[in-house]
Amino acid sequence: MRVVIQDNYEKMSLWAANYIAARIRAHKEDRPFVLGLPTGSSPIGVYKELIRKNRAGELSFANVITFNMDEYLGLPREHDQSYWYFMHDNFFDHLADMKPENIHILDGMTRDPEGECARYEEMIREAGGIDLFMGGIGVDGHLAFNEPYTSLSSRTGVRDLTTDTRIVNSRFFGGDPEKVPAQALSVGIGTVTDAREILILISGHNKARALARTVEGGVSQKWTCSALQLHNAAIIACDEEACGELTVDTYKYFLDIERSQRL
Ligand code: GLP
Repeated sequence: MRVVIQDNYEKMSLWAANYIAARIRAHKEDRPFVLGLPTGSSPIGVYKELIRKNRAGELSFANVITFNMDEYLGLPREHDQSYWYFMHDNFFDHLADMKPENIHILDGMTRDPEGECARYEEMIREAGGIDLFMGGIGVDGHLAFNEPYTSLSSRTGVRDLTTDTRIVNSRFFGGDPEKVPAQALSVGIGTVTDAREILILISGHNKARALARTVEGGVSQKWTCSALQLHNAAIIACDEEACGELTVDTYKYFLDIERSQRL
């Protein structure tokens, strides 16, 4: 695992956007590049920079297929807190050459949630698997909506949200946890770790415990993000604030080895 420590959120975002852009440009296979994407505050800076590159003609999305991580169950696309809405508002609508048919987001209004999730897995397979999965994590270490005690080999499915997550996410629902949907559709931990590369963004004091558990704790279903330890090409891009609970030797180790890396 690589842990790339940047001074602040802006630098973390720039680093991650440059990494993703380099991967898309380097893709030479005769199938599109397949990119997994998250919502939340963590990726907003990355989206801004990817949009800037795209509008400046530095990066094309014409040959990119995307799959989003998750979606609330029961929210229509037009709801301003649906992840469909978030992704279009913060990213897709601003890209010059993203093809709408290449965008995949789980349907939160489906009448057949299990079938929808099975189809999603099938579409990922048909696209050739995910080349790079970008993600964020929750304060309890959830990856996508894989809450504590979700199997580390889980596939795309329906998830019950914990009270903790509903409280944290209530900031987008007028501060009322009851207004946060109780369930979501989410890719599984196994779906994420099947990706060829994983890039997770972790920023801010409130994620410090989750970062320490992800990197230094044992692999455990309590901290589903710890499954990253078993992946051969996982990168965490984080800021200084998120490093507050790492031990000094871990912190120094990652700073040290990153000095010799280019990107
Ligand atoms: C939600 C999403 C996660 C996301 C997490 C963190 O719960 N389902 O995919 O990683 O929030 O969000 P933020 O980046 O806003 O802290």
